[in-house]
Amino acid sequence: MSWGLRVRAFLAGKWAKSIIVLAGLLPLAALVWRGLHHGLTANPIEFITHTTGDWTLRFLLLTLAITPLRQALRLPELIRLRRMFGLFAFFYACLHFSTYIGLDKFFDLAEMGKDVAKRRFITVGFAAYLLLIPLAVTSTAGWIRRLGGRRWQFLHRAIYLSASAGVIHYYWLVKSAVLRPLAYGLVVGILLLWRLAEWSVRRRRALAHGPASP
Ligand code: HEM
Repeated sequence: MSWGLRVRAFLAGKWAKSIIVLAGLLPLAALVWRGLHHGLTANPIEFITHTTGDWTLRFLLLTLAITPLRQALRLPELIRLRRMFGLFAFFYACLHFSTYIGLDKFFDLAEMGKDVAKRRFITVGFAAYLLLIPLAVTSTAGWIRRLGGRRWQFLHRAIYLSASAGVIHYYWLVKSAVLRPLAYGLVVGILLLWRLAEWSVRRRRALAHGPASP
């Protein structure tokens, strides 16, 4: 069997999802391990906030990369992993937000409200998080059915907004080390351009062929 077929068989098989779930939990396991072995640096809250923020953004980018990758590599089976990457992005966003509200603000909602209103990087991070909630809630097959494919797809385009807001959040919070947020921004930009180019090709083809006969 060729490598391409092997990869496709693996992606379509029962192990792919289990392996991704285990791999997705590794960053959390590493944090717990560090916590148990005094490895969370002199500022554990900052370390946990940064690690969970980084993984939120990485999983968001992985989710966005699935469609371009399945088209470029001709691996339609990759779609099976998209929902899981998206849910991991939400999972790490929840840990990130919980660290901030629980460990940093001691559940002081008034203090959090002030922060959201005053510090622009918190405002945009909060917006990025809020945008992910409806996407996580409606990620099931039942919700796709209830909303209908088109409306569901339209709603789920909000992931581009969330990822862009996440990048801006990161860019605004760093003082001088702007290279990493800029690199993340470049990836989001490329993935967005890919989708726009694909959409415009499809639209031109549809216009050239005229409306479909009933
Ligand atoms: C989708 C949502 C979000 C993403 C993608 C995200 C991403 C990130 C990233 C990448 C970092 C920096 C990590 C590093 O330096 O290596 C970070 C830091 C941080 N984020 Fe978020 N974040 C999100 C939502 C939020 C929310 C909702 C809050 C709080 C309301 C928040 C509060 C913070 C704080 C306090 C820091 C550390 C700032 C500092 O060290 O000065 N983030 N986030």
